[in-house]
Amino acid sequence: MPAPLITLEGIDGSGKSTILRRLRHNLPRRVVFTKEPTGGPLGRLVRAGLARGHRIDPLAEALLFVADHAEHVALTLRPALEKGRPVISDRYSDSRYAYQSVTLRDIVSEPLQWLQELHRPITIAPQQTLLLVVDPREAISRMEGRRKTKFEREVFLRVVQLNYRKLALAEPWRFVVVDANRDLDKVAWDVEMEIRRTLKL
Ligand code: TYD
Repeated sequence: MPAPLITLEGIDGSGKSTILRRLRHNLPRRVVFTKEPTGGPLGRLVRAGLARGHRIDPLAEALLFVADHAEHVALTLRPALEKGRPVISDRYSDSRYAYQSVTLRDIVSEPLQWLQELHRPITIAPQQTLLLVVDPREAISRMEGRRKTKFEREVFLRVVQLNYRKLALAEPWRFVVVDANRDLDKVAWDVEMEIRRTLKL
């Protein structure tokens, strides 16, 4: 049986980076930490398009995110899981389902279904997804002083978070919804305990 794949999701400012730093420090070294967008050429390309003021066609952008995912699965995830190493991914398919459902809503008639169909032959389903839920206003205030991307606006993030919640309702066996409005040390502790349970650590 392949090793488990766990994903961490949430809007910008939900505290993922802080929590991941803690997890990296505390979990055994055989756990592989990875992220989307990746650090590879496709991930870099997609990240360049996120800068404020940069105009990129939303469909081209969504397809680039998916292309980066395909490469991530083929080059990093599948090999690690086949070697029996558990993987924790900072963002994964649900990021497309939550964010690109918004950016594509005037372009594709059923963006979520369209995106899910596109992923079907490419993706590996996560065993568990931890969804950090935070008040978007608090999320924005956590990003003060950081250079923001075009997605980091409260109204936009509100809709993205609603999409995440709908995904969690549709697949309750996979999602664990974590209240990320609290002190990040407490949030990190809860996330770590959940992951330890799943990985039997
Ligand atoms: P982020 O996790 O912030 O990457 P980094 O910390 O490396 O800059 O992701 C960048 C932005 O891209 C963030 O606003 C979420 C968005 N995003 C999507 O819209 N779709 C996706 O599929 C992914 C992976 C990210």
